[in-house]
Amino acid sequence: MSAVEIFEVGPRDGLQNEKAQIATADKIALVDMLSTAGFKRIEVASFVSPKWVPQMADSAEVLHGITRADGVSYAALTPNMRGLEGAIAAKADEVAVFASASEGFSKANVNATIEESIARFIPIMEAAPMPVRGYVSCVAECPYDGPTDPADVARVVARLFKLGCYEVSLGDTIGRATPEQIDAMLTAVTQVCAADKLAGHFHDTAGRALLNIDVALSHGVRVFDAAVAGLGGCPYAPGAAGNVATEAVLAHLESAGHPTGLDADIVARAGRMAQAMRG
Ligand code: HMG
Ligand code: MG
Repeated sequence: MSAVEIFEVGPRDGLQNEKAQIATADKIALVDMLSTAGFKRIEVASFVSPKWVPQMADSAEVLHGITRADGVSYAALTPNMRGLEGAIAAKADEVAVFASASEGFSKANVNATIEESIARFIPIMEAAPMPVRGYVSCVAECPYDGPTDPADVARVVARLFKLGCYEVSLGDTIGRATPEQIDAMLTAVTQVCAADKLAGHFHDTAGRALLNIDVALSHGVRVFDAAVAGLGGCPYAPGAAGNVATEAVLAHLESAGHPTGLDADIVARAGRMAQAMRG
């Protein structure tokens, strides 16, 4: 069976929604533990407005404080040029631009239309000295606009690849997608790009994330974002629960015969650590 990569997003997507400020030292300890688990990529920071997401205000300190492991790419979100400058100064190995397939979430999350948000990415793509990943949110359901048309997802995905993203991660931001919706969405998206350039990013509000991963696997997707202990949510997506738990995805993939290269014991320890810092 083919190998599948889990992209750990817990230190960013997992923690960004926590109300109580988590100590920078705790975030660093979590990343340092995750760095020994075998992940190739860990999203640890977000250079967004601290007024919008206060929990991520110490992103530069986190990137400076971690002990970088060989072969691990430490990633950061960058919504605009100011974010990119922060990510470069803090030596992020890769950055991610994030767009939405629905106008309602785009406005709520970045105070811009989809088109305006993409316009902010153009200078980022030109200036970034590191690889840039793309995210598309609300690929099946939007908390403001309802069901998303798969054609709208495919259009935004095509734009992000045209701009130069090396991979696009497809977000079920509120975790309510059905396997049928993911199937229809991926049928449309794989008309505009190869499945091996895509990642699945499933939140797990409705408990269908593992089913949705299976659908994505059947379309050829081989990268999945997940957060230890199933932490997470998005402050601008009401009702969104955590990301699918890394522990669950790991067990699910390995039992289906897909090697992940991860140490399940360390992942479990990191999950307990993340839960403890959440209080
Ligand atoms: P705005 O208010 O429209 O724009 O925010 P602004 O330019 O007026 O900026 C507001 C203030 O933020 C200003 O400060 C700027 O200087 C400052 P003030 O003058 O008021 O003191 N600012 C910044 N500060 C630090 N870093 C920056 C930055 N940019 C401006 N980069 C903006 C527009 C995009 C900045 C804002 O809407 C924002 O930060 N949004 C981010 C929201 C967010 O982080 N959401 C969560 C991540 S996305 C997600 O979770 C989904 C994902 O997981 C996939 C999925 O699940 O679907 C990726
Ligand atoms: Mg997310």
